[in-house]
Amino acid sequence: MKDNVVVRITEVKRFYQMGMVAVHALGGINLKVEKSEFVSIMGPSGCGKSTLMHIIGCLDRPTSGHVHLDEVDIDKLDDNELAAIRNKKVGFVFQTFNLLPKLKAIENVELPLIYAGVGLPARRKKATELLEIVGLKDRMYHRPSELSGGQSQRVAVARALANNPSIILADEPTGNLDSKSGEEIIRLFQELNSRGITLIIVTHDQEIANHGKRIIRLKDGLVVADDRVTARSR
Ligand SMILES: Nc1ncnc2c1ncn2[C@@H]1O[C@H](COP(=O)(O)OP(=O)(O)O)[C@@H](O)[C@H]1O
Ligand SMILES: [Mg+2]
Repeated sequence: MKDNVVVRITEVKRFYQMGMVAVHALGGINLKVEKSEFVSIMGPSGCGKSTLMHIIGCLDRPTSGHVHLDEVDIDKLDDNELAAIRNKKVGFVFQTFNLLPKLKAIENVELPLIYAGVGLPARRKKATELLEIVGLKDRMYHRPSELSGGQSQRVAVARALANNPSIILADEPTGNLDSKSGEEIIRLFQELNSRGITLIIVTHDQEIANHGKRIIRLKDGLVVADDRVTARSR
C-alpha cells in the first residue's frame, strides 16, 4: 500500500573531498517527511542545511545512504532519470529568486512548463492561474527589475508550483527580504500548505520557522532536534 511519505532519507552522508581533507557536510541523516507537512530546517551556517536540501531535491546525491522521493528509490536512477524526477516532483525557491531578468513574470512562470512540453495556450493559462494564486494578477507582464523583492519571490513561488510538484523546497526564501515581505512570503507558504502542498524551508529566523508545523535543527551535519510547532512554542 502506498503511504503518505514524500521524502525518506536513510543514513545519508555527504563528504566533499577537498585535496587531502574530507569535509563531512552530512554525517548520517535520517528523516521522513509526509504529505502536507510544513518543515523548517534551522542550524548554524555550514551545518549542512543546503547540502541536505540539494540531496532531497535530487540536485546532488549522497556519498552513502538512501533517498526516496515519493517512494521512488533515487539511488537506482541514472542522471537523466534523476533530472526528470526533479523536474516533475520538486519545486525550488531560492534566496536570490533566480528569475530570468529579460523575461516577464508570466514568462518566468511558464519556463518549467516549456521544458515539460506544454503548449502555449495551456501554459499561459496555468501561469496566469498561478500568478493569481500568489497575488500578482496585476504584475504579470512586469519584468523582474520592475518588481519588488517580495513580488519577485512570489513569481519564483508561482514558477516552483508550475509542474504541480510533490514538494516545494525553499532555501532561505526570506533571506533577501525585509521583514514585512518575508512575512508575506511565509503567509503564502502557509496558504499553499493549507491546500495540501508539502513544504520544506531553510531559515535562520525563528519567527519564520514558527509559522511551519515542524522544526528540524541540524548541527555539524546531524539532526539534533525534531519538534512539532505547537501554539505554545509559537
Ligand atoms: N561544493 C562543496 N565543496 C566543498 N565543500 C562544500 C561544498 N558545499 C558545501 N561544502 C561544505 O559543507 C558544509 C555544509 O555546507 P552547507 O550545506 O552549504 O551548509 P549551510 O547551508 O548549513 O550553511 C560546509 O562546511 C561547507 O563548507
Ligand atoms: Mg546554506
